[in-house]
Order: sequence, then structure tokens, then C-alpha cells
Amino acid sequence: MSGAAEIVIGPLSAIEDPGCREFQIGEGDWPFRGFVVRRADKVYAYQNFCAHVGHPLNWMPDGFLTRDNTAIICASHGAQYEIDTGLCFRGPCVGKSLCAVDVAVREGVIYVTGPTSM
Ligand code: FES
Repeated sequence: MSGAAEIVIGPLSAIEDPGCREFQIGEGDWPFRGFVVRRADKVYAYQNFCAHVGHPLNWMPDGFLTRDNTAIICASHGAQYEIDTGLCFRGPCVGKSLCAVDVAVREGVIYVTGPTSM
């Protein structure tokens, strides 16, 4: 049965600036997979699902950013997305967006709320 759940990602200070952290909500074969991006005191969260053909964006654990850390990049075909909006501005799916996930920082701790399955 699917629903929504809030999970704790951990302290903001535990993520590099800028940096990313993968997460999973739910168990089983089809958990909801996403990642948060920290940039300074802001945190953004997206489903780990490329707007091009739906591949996971990363090949390396927690590796979602371009070499210069200015954008989110998909390892499959190089789509690049704005960190703060999830909008694709370069690559095969320009104009499409990553699916944003609710994220909050309370007392220095990051929480995300999302579905418990895909
Ligand atoms: S699946 Fe991400 S760019 Fe093709």
C-alpha cells in the first residue's frame, strides 16, 4: 500500500556545500528514490528520475552535480538541470523538469516528505 511519509535525511552540516545526499522512502521492490541538494543554507529535493527517459540520474553514490558544482547532471546522456528549480536547460530534455519533493530544514536537520513507492 502506498502513502506518504516524512523521513529524516540528517543534519544540514553533514552534507558538503554544495553537495547531495540520496534517500529512499518505503521498502520493497519499488521504493521512492530521491536526492537532496544542499547549496549554502538552502536545500532542494527531487525524485531521482531523469526527465529524459526516466533513468536514475547518478552512477556514483550521492553524485548528482556537474564538475563545477553549478548544476545537476544526468550521467546517462548529460541532461543538466538548475539546482534551485529542477528545470533542464541543457541536453536532450531542455524545458522539462525534475519532480520536486517536499523538503524542510528544522533546527538544522533536513526532512523530506514523499510517497512510499514509485
Ligand atoms: S536519461 Fe537522463 S539524459 Fe537521458
